[in-house]
Amino acid sequence: MRLVALASLLLAVAVSALGNSQQGFNSELSFDEYTEQSLLWAPYRPNCYFGIRPRNVDQSPFMLGIMWFDNSDASGLSRIRHFVEQGDKLQKYGWEVYDPRVGGREVIIDEANNLNLTIYFTKSHNGENWAVRVHGEPLDPERGSAASVVVYFNQNGQDGQSRLKKIVGDDSGKMLFHGVSKELGEYQLTVRDNFGSYYSDPGLPTMEIVPGCDSSKTAHLSMTVPDENVWMARDVFLSILSDSVKQIVEEKGAEAVNPSLFPSTFTIRNLYDFPAGNFHYLQKSFDNSSPEGFEFDIIYNALDTKERITSIGDVANLISGTINHVETKFAELFALEPKGEQYHSFALETLSNLLGGIGYFHGTQLVDRVTIFDDEQFEEVKLQHATEEGPLSLFTSVPSRAFFPRGFYWDEGFHLLQIMEYDFDLAFVICSSWFDLIEADSGWIAREVILGDEARSKVPEEFRVQNPNIANPPTLLLAFSEMLDRAIKNQESSALEFPGPVDDEITAQKQTSQLENNPDLLLKYAERIYPKLLKHYNWFKTSQKGLIEEYEEILEDEGILEKVHQEEAYTWRGRTINHCLPSGMDDYPRPQPPDVAELNVDALAWVGIMTRSMRRIAHVLSLKDDEAEYQKIENNIIENLDLLHWSEEHRCYCDITIDSLGDGRAFVCHEGYISLLPFALKLVPLDSPKLKHILSLMSDPEGIFSEYGLLSLSRRDEYFGTAENYWRGPVWLNINYLCLDALTYYFPAVVSGAAEGLSPEESQAKQLFVSLKESLVNNVFKNWEERGYCYESYDQYTGKGKGIEHFTGWTALVVNIMGNK
Ligand SMILES: *[C@@H]1O[C@H](CO)[C@@H](O)[C@H](O)[C@H]1NC(C)=O
Repeated sequence: MRLVALASLLLAVAVSALGNSQQGFNSELSFDEYTEQSLLWAPYRPNCYFGIRPRNVDQSPFMLGIMWFDNSDASGLSRIRHFVEQGDKLQKYGWEVYDPRVGGREVIIDEANNLNLTIYFTKSHNGENWAVRVHGEPLDPERGSAASVVVYFNQNGQDGQSRLKKIVGDDSGKMLFHGVSKELGEYQLTVRDNFGSYYSDPGLPTMEIVPGCDSSKTAHLSMTVPDENVWMARDVFLSILSDSVKQIVEEKGAEAVNPSLFPSTFTIRNLYDFPAGNFHYLQKSFDNSSPEGFEFDIIYNALDTKERITSIGDVANLISGTINHVETKFAELFALEPKGEQYHSFALETLSNLLGGIGYFHGTQLVDRVTIFDDEQFEEVKLQHATEEGPLSLFTSVPSRAFFPRGFYWDEGFHLLQIMEYDFDLAFVICSSWFDLIEADSGWIAREVILGDEARSKVPEEFRVQNPNIANPPTLLLAFSEMLDRAIKNQESSALEFPGPVDDEITAQKQTSQLENNPDLLLKYAERIYPKLLKHYNWFKTSQKGLIEEYEEILEDEGILEKVHQEEAYTWRGRTINHCLPSGMDDYPRPQPPDVAELNVDALAWVGIMTRSMRRIAHVLSLKDDEAEYQKIENNIIENLDLLHWSEEHRCYCDITIDSLGDGRAFVCHEGYISLLPFALKLVPLDSPKLKHILSLMSDPEGIFSEYGLLSLSRRDEYFGTAENYWRGPVWLNINYLCLDALTYYFPAVVSGAAEGLSPEESQAKQLFVSLKESLVNNVFKNWEERGYCYESYDQYTGKGKGIEHFTGWTALVVNIMGNK
């Protein structure tokens, strides 16, 4: 198994003070060992309703997935579920309680298939063994359906040693498999029914419509599926099954098939006499008319294991330990105002779904290194010179399991801001996996990380190819410098304290904040990664550099040429007439027509954030000269924001371009998120007179303030709500989160209790903060309560969730907003 790249570099500090947490992980484990063990196994295929693969096991990974449909209905096959699809229109799906280190509970309500599925995932205490419990009930027992659940698994590996074979199987549904993986070693897989009855009609002499098709037994088909096609398990299943059904119908005649035999007809068989292989389908068709439903377990045990999971009771105990662990830890960390049980469930579920989106991806990436973005040309550029590079690996969370099950550079920093509140070390492991992707030569990281065919299958062709001239807001650095800050603060404050008595009841949280509590570990990492981050920083600055030369005469005429720092002006490469995808706010209005000389205020602000992060890293590494250099650049950027981008007329920050006569600077001002960004990223000086204008901008109910949160674009803007209306009005949680955070930075009084003696600005800020926080929480909660999901954005007129459903990426920041301790 490939160790995490940093593993060998970090000191193995035994945290001897740790006692037994609820999950009882070995208390002597170092950060690395604990990471390896507790993060090896999880449902790391977030694109599936349920799919398991191990982390960092690349050559011969074990893969598992679950599918289901109602096979008592001749048209049931068209409603087979496998990959998460918004078009499936499930009433609900997702994790109610989940933590990748221990497991959790996923609930799926599928009315079309009359099925209420609960899937539990749990692990042994040392993390090497695991169990899945699949529990199903009919939503309406009267409907007389069948619940056909298909489990598939495969032991990949072209090494000639890896394999997975059935060794025991009986009609009671119990089956035993023996597996070998070069990386995982030897293991055993057990599938066992706990209760429920298979579909059968007692009035018929037999359920076996043709040899091998019998719904009253577990069907098992073993075959060989090439490694690269395992992810297509659903298509392979459908293809074999429809051939089989066709043959049955030809043989018997469609009319002659007794409806009681439909479930048998829609049961997989070895139609083509495939020889047994390492790929397996198990199909269990339960009678879905008993309210008690059915239940079965899938259990994985490494062969040389100390802690084998065997009985039904073992699984039940582990599950209750898991659920209890996550619930307790959540309650320890988040102080939700006493708003009631539903608010609590909402917050726990939303955080669980963000964590449930964490996946491990491995495969090749499509890169076009040939196409250059012509500065003069703003037509859609097709990336037609793709080559396959890699393979690469990425451990990341995803914005939405349904629609965006892959890594997004711009989203991930926001995910980390949320995750670090719950599990600091996990946020770090994810962040370092992203930093591993920084190219040694160029310093580039792709905007979307789409690894392998499985990930690619979810991406429209025109978005699959990445190009090293294209950037995206560098949110990861924002998150990483936040991590360093916290670790340093902890170090400083703990140095002042006397070590207290060792507490036996160490909280669950301690075990997952080793880095936060031992900053030395984090510093060692920072030291190692610093040269790479510097590459990345320089790549960004060079690739997005703006043509400020074009303004030379203009600035001279304005009398500010001497003051402007000419090396700090930026523009997003790759914008088109209507879109600026690299900025992350695709259709937010930009200067029209586009011009080579256009300078983007948000691009400059993001470079400011990168610089500030680099400065902090240099500071903690005691690189004094570097720190001073970054400080200078940061100051220059802050000055340039005002000198180049502040419009006194509009009283906000704006993009600029050359005016239509070609001899003046034109401010292109569209009030909204882009104009707020210098404030949201805390780049406006604390004593800036501009703060009061920004406050007014945010507080104006005819501008961008709304009862659902800050609107992406002002109601007064000519583009408000027009065309795709993606970033032209709807409320997005990520920028709202930054604005709330910035309010507490600029006006600390907003969170202090004092209401007396506030300046007019402080009062205004406080009022804004309180109502903004409440609006955001109430609206996201209301949507969840009514429709069961979080959304990508929220409508500017009604607050109704818009765009992608089950978007528990940065929308999950609502949990932070609700209150963390
Ligand atoms: C689904 O099943 C679970 C477990 O039995 C139960 O608690 C829940 O209420 C059911 N949900 C629906 C919508 O029937």
